Amino acid sequence: MIRQPLVASAPGRVNLLGEHVDHQGGTVLPVAVNLRTQVRYTPGDRWEITSEGHAPDGDWRRYVDGVLAVLAEEGIETQPGRLEISSTVPEAKGLSSSAALEVAVAGAVTELPALEVARLCQKAEVEKVGVPCGFMDQATAACALGSNIFALDCSDNTFFHLPLPNAVLLFIDPELPRRVADTPYAERIVEARTPGTDAHRHVVEEMARVEQGIMLLDREDLRGFGRLMTQSHESLRDLYRCSHPTIDQIVDALNAVPGIFGARMTGAGWGGCVVALTEPGVQVEGARMLVPDDGLDRRVL
Ligand code: GLA
Repeated sequence: MIRQPLVASAPGRVNLLGEHVDHQGGTVLPVAVNLRTQVRYTPGDRWEITSEGHAPDGDWRRYVDGVLAVLAEEGIETQPGRLEISSTVPEAKGLSSSAALEVAVAGAVTELPALEVARLCQKAEVEKVGVPCGFMDQATAACALGSNIFALDCSDNTFFHLPLPNAVLLFIDPELPRRVADTPYAERIVEARTPGTDAHRHVVEEMARVEQGIMLLDREDLRGFGRLMTQSHESLRDLYRCSHPTIDQIVDALNAVPGIFGARMTGAGWGGCVVALTEPGVQVEGARMLVPDDGLDRRVL
């Protein structure tokens, strides 16, 4: 049990390939990025939880309370105290702000290994928040290693770090926020498990793209990998049906820019952001550069 003040932080992520396959036991290729949620923990005799810039009873509280409830249920002893939360991960944009928050909280109040932190946080999201998510977001927020793609096999939760060759990640935020809990996320998972449906076909083909993508990255073939990202987007648009017309337009516009290898929606979809993989030096109006980052970080004060 932790008794000293510390700061724990965890990153948001963009997913490059393997969208909507984690809940079907597929492999995913996300990258943790330099947008982080930080939790400053000071032990005390009761929980006192604040988040900078958020209403005290806002949505964020469900994630924090969910994590603390799961830790208690699993018999993991924690010492109550002050949790001061701040974040640069935009919410409801497909960058996995909820997993960053969950992992930073669990990392602050326990000394559990990162993968175990991720497992408990996924449990909190599924059981306490009610989103039947896969393992991608929490595992990336906990275990990613900067400048690498976090290749996670969700059939057995093993992972390896795949170097991201000389490329730049851009992200564009079309201001289409949505809460995953308010989308057809859960309903589409049921369809994806049913052979013969479009969602199932997306899953099968996306898994094959991931296998091919890993081989292309090994050869540093970013152009080939980018093409797979764009194909993944088209499949999410047409088969999994979780894109958005504005996002589709941005993806098309990005793919017409010289030097861009590929572009796609990222995260659950039905809104959110677009991610593009480019050669260095490409300028796109309204795009922000993301830098790969490490997962859970704990620092004793
Ligand atoms: C959300 C979920 C993840 C994953 C993605 C889609 O981010 O939390 O588990 O299913 O959607 O790939």
